[in-house]
Amino acid sequence: MTALFAVTSRGLESICAREMARYGLTVGEIAYRRVHAQAQGNLRPLLALSTADDLFLEVSRWSGISHTRAALESLRGLAEELPVRPALAACAQLRPIDRNPAFSVTANFVGRRNYSSDEIKTALAAGIEAATGWTYSPDDRAAALNVRLFIEHTEALVGVRLAATPLHRRSYKQAQRPGSLKPTVAAAMLEVMGLQTGETLLDPCCGAGTILVEAARRGALVQGGDSDAEAVAAALANAENAGVIFPVERWDARSLPLADGSVECIACNLPWDRQVAIEGDDAAFYAQLCAEMERVLAPGGRIALLTNRSALLTFARLVCQEKFEISLFGQRPVIGVYR
Ligand SMILES: C[S@@+](CC[C@H](N)C(=O)[O-])C[C@H]1O[C@@H](n2cnc3c(N)ncnc32)[C@H](O)[C@@H]1O
Repeated sequence: MTALFAVTSRGLESICAREMARYGLTVGEIAYRRVHAQAQGNLRPLLALSTADDLFLEVSRWSGISHTRAALESLRGLAEELPVRPALAACAQLRPIDRNPAFSVTANFVGRRNYSSDEIKTALAAGIEAATGWTYSPDDRAAALNVRLFIEHTEALVGVRLAATPLHRRSYKQAQRPGSLKPTVAAAMLEVMGLQTGETLLDPCCGAGTILVEAARRGALVQGGDSDAEAVAAALANAENAGVIFPVERWDARSLPLADGSVECIACNLPWDRQVAIEGDDAAFYAQLCAEMERVLAPGGRIALLTNRSALLTFARLVCQEKFEISLFGQRPVIGVYR
């Protein structure tokens, strides 16, 4: 068994845990922005986890970390004992990596202490360098291996990043639009609605196409549109970057050129004022949009919507089955799943 933990955006922990379980992991503790799990066998498929910001091999847990500056020397000593070589061997099974890699250190802490995260990094880097002869790189992007330390009061957790880069970094996401979603949030919407390979999915207000690309990567048959020509162009550009093809049209989502009952799933990050203003009266806009989504949805279909205006979402037949409050753009919008 291999102990791992995923780091997530705030509010996505339980959704990421669900995806990890779907990948065959045995999920353990779910903490703030973190999900712990045990894996058996090949770790390579885990690099496709779509809702995790980052995934780490759990290499150590330390306790008794003091808030005084004396802790820096202890951390350096503890870092000398870290089992980073077995972690390197595990990473080397998934990706080419130097036997003596340049490594970076990331450190976060909760609770007051008399030293900074930069000083923690320096202490850890010195310990690892002394034990391995590897070279510390202050720039994570220039490093082949990342060591991550979380200190919560007197307890510490240490991980080594499994992939070469954080999982949330998607190379396809080059074109941006206001209000554009982080790909892990888009993926979380698809995870909670249980989108399956071969299902049809519509995003009627697709912006830069993040939901559409994530859905296409899950094997769905996707289509989308937006009232803004630049958003349509951005969605098509991101699709091309991702190597996926789907139709994107310029339209008004309140009057879609689609037949009744023609899509099995709808997922949409609605305009909700933060970065993208709602056209005209909010309640009227949402009511028209809901009626149109319900019209094009096939019987038994489902909808995942992200907005901070959930109270304005009204459907004739669909009911909200699950809600997840997340953190986004400094607000607390909700992902709602309607069936
Ligand atoms: C929050 S953004 C979507 C961002 C997208 N999920 C992404 O990741 O890039 C909302 C989108 O709704 C579009 N929109 C606003 N009113 C619309 C309407 N009546 N019909 C279609 N799209 C509309 C905006 O142009 C904007 O791109």
